[in-house]
Amino acid sequence: MTTELKKLPQHIGFIIDGNGRWAKERGWPRTKGHEHGVKNLDVIIKECFYGYGIPIVSIYAFSTENWNRPQTELDCLFKYFTKYLKVNDFVKKYPHVRLNIMGDYTKFPAELVKNAKAVIEATKDETQFILNLGINYSGQDELVRAVNLMLGEKLAPTVDRATLQKYLYTADQPLLDLVVRTSGEQRLSNFMLWQVSYAELYFPKIYWPAFGKKDLAQALLEYQSRDRRFGAITAQDA
Ligand code: FPP
Repeated sequence: MTTELKKLPQHIGFIIDGNGRWAKERGWPRTKGHEHGVKNLDVIIKECFYGYGIPIVSIYAFSTENWNRPQTELDCLFKYFTKYLKVNDFVKKYPHVRLNIMGDYTKFPAELVKNAKAVIEATKDETQFILNLGINYSGQDELVRAVNLMLGEKLAPTVDRATLQKYLYTADQPLLDLVVRTSGEQRLSNFMLWQVSYAELYFPKIYWPAFGKKDLAQALLEYQSRDRRFGAITAQDA
């Protein structure tokens, strides 16, 4: 079976779960799982953009709740984010990609913030692909932020969906078509609550570091087999 190019998602999201458990199964420290998780993230992002031509990829890399982890694990994650966001490497690694960060990344260590700002600036005119990176991100916070921004602008007393959408991190982007959460957990954990409204959800029982290109192909095949009705009925049921 091959994936039919015309039915590919235009916006795919990944909740990259199970790095710690993957490492534990091998008797390794959790941080080793994150190290492999980062490597795999690069492989899967490239496959989405340059292999399949999917224009928008969203990643849940660090939630607002993840601050509760031990400092050693946080330091390790921050180190990986900082490295991943080195501007020269990023633009070489991901041609034609605009980086859009979801979440208040200014709360991270200074070097990480500096790198993130540099990549945002360097990629701001790219139009072919978008990488939405959720760090210090929460879907509920994103909605609260949007409401506060609207209040600040003293809009009319009522707003519609299109207006609210403009105040999200993903303003002007299509909603998610497919969300993949690895590790077998079947929940969204505050990931892109607005954008996920009509997304297909896929929960492979594979830890993130082991989720390979073949598993991505399987996820896309599964997506293509789903009957997306967006609340309507299909012609044969009418
Ligand atoms: C939660 O599960 C996953 C995370 C906290 C994300 C891990 C983040 C990375 C691997 C960094 C990648 C991102 C970039 C941009 C460099 P868990 O992995 O802690 O595993 P567990 O649920 O098995 O404990």
